[in-house]
Amino acid sequence: MIKYSAAASSLSPSATLELSARAKALAAEGRDIIALSAGQPDFPTPAPIVQAALDAIAAGKTGYTASTGIPELKRAVATSWSARRGLEWSPSEVIVSCGAKHSLANLIAAAVSPGEKVLLPRPYWVSYPEMVKASGGVPVFTGGELDADEIIRAASEGAVGVLLNYPSNPAGTVPSASEMKDIAEAVASTNMWVISDDIYEDLSYLDGSVPHILDFRPDIADRTVVVSGVSKTYAMTGWRIGFALGPKEWVRLSGLIQAHSTSNPCSISQWAALAAVQGAAENERLGMLDSFSERRDICYNLLSEIDGLETVKPDGAFYVFPRLLSDPDRLDTQRFCGELLNTKGVAAVPGSAFGSEGHLRISFAASEENIREGISRLAEFLHGRLRT
Ligand SMILES: Cc1ncc(COP(=O)(O)O)c(C=O)c1O
Repeated sequence: MIKYSAAASSLSPSATLELSARAKALAAEGRDIIALSAGQPDFPTPAPIVQAALDAIAAGKTGYTASTGIPELKRAVATSWSARRGLEWSPSEVIVSCGAKHSLANLIAAAVSPGEKVLLPRPYWVSYPEMVKASGGVPVFTGGELDADEIIRAASEGAVGVLLNYPSNPAGTVPSASEMKDIAEAVASTNMWVISDDIYEDLSYLDGSVPHILDFRPDIADRTVVVSGVSKTYAMTGWRIGFALGPKEWVRLSGLIQAHSTSNPCSISQWAALAAVQGAAENERLGMLDSFSERRDICYNLLSEIDGLETVKPDGAFYVFPRLLSDPDRLDTQRFCGELLNTKGVAAVPGSAFGSEGHLRISFAASEENIREGISRLAEFLHGRLRT
C-alpha cells in the first residue's frame, strides 16, 4: 500500500469545479440546467487578443520561454501595475504564471513553512485553505469580515501572513477607504506578510478605484505581493495567464518552484495577454463591464424580492452571496444546492465551500434570460419548501 503525503491527503476537492462538472453532466444528459455557478465571464475573448495569439503562432513563438514569463509581458505588467498603485516594481519583481491561481499557489509555497498559520478572512475563496495546507501550513479564519482586531489577534496567536481578496469571491465585497485604512494600519503594526489577490480589481461597480492596502501603507510593499491577471477582466480564463508583483526574493523563490514544476506559462497565451495588458481590447473590456453592471442590478433586485433570503448588493466581481433565513437546510447548503440542482435544474454554489455556511453563491456571469429564469426557479424552490 502506498502511504500518500499527509499534506496531499488533507486536501478537499474544489466545490465550485465539482458543482460545475455535475451541472454540465446533467445538461449533457438532456436536462434543462441553468448554471448560476460559473466563475468566469460568459463572453468570448475579445478579437484583438485572439488576433495577437494567432500572430504569435504564425510567427513561430511556440517554444519554451523564460520560466517566469516573456520579458515583454513582465515589463508591461510592471509598468501598468506600478502606474496603478503609484509604486515602482521592476520586471524582476514580476512573475507570470499559468493563471492567478498558479501564482498564488507558488507564492504560498514559497512563503509558508510546515506548521505556520495563515489568516484567511471569511468568506474565503475555496482554494486558499487548500493551498496553505498543501504547503503544510495551517489556515486560520476570521469570525466574520476582516477588521483590525482580527488581524492583531491572529498575529498575537502566531499567524505569519494574511490573504486579502477585494472585490471578493464569493461576496463581491469591497471595503470602504476607512475600513481598508484600518486593515492596512493593523497589518503594518505586525510582522505579517500580505498576499493581495486583486484578480477582480477591474470588475468594480463603484465610482473610483477599489481601496487597496498599499494605497494606505506603501511602506509595507516590501512584505506584500499583489496578484492579478487577465482571466476575469478580459474573458481569458482558459488561456491560463496570471501574474504577481512583489518583493524580489519572494518572486525569485516562487519562480524556482515554477521553473521546477510547470516551466513557463503557454507562450501563445503570454503574447495574447501582452495585447490585453497593453490595452488592445479596452472597448471590449468596458462593454463587458457594462453588461456585468446591468446584470448585477437585475440579479440583486430579483434576489432581494425573495422571502427567506437576505441579500447584500455586491460592489464588485460577478457574484451575489445571499443568506438563507429560514430554509430547513440553511445550515447544510451542500445539501440545499444538491436538491436545487436535482429538482429545479439550477446550479448555485454552497456557502460552506467558502467557510460561510448558510449562504449561496449566485453568479451573474450568465445571460439575463438565464439569471431571470434561474432566480425564478430558486424562488419557487424556496417557497415550496417553506410551505411543507
Ligand atoms: C479569488 C480568485 N482568485 C484567483 C482566481 C484564479 O484566477 P485564474 O483563472 O487566473 O487562475 C480566481 C478564479 O476563480 C478567484 O476567484
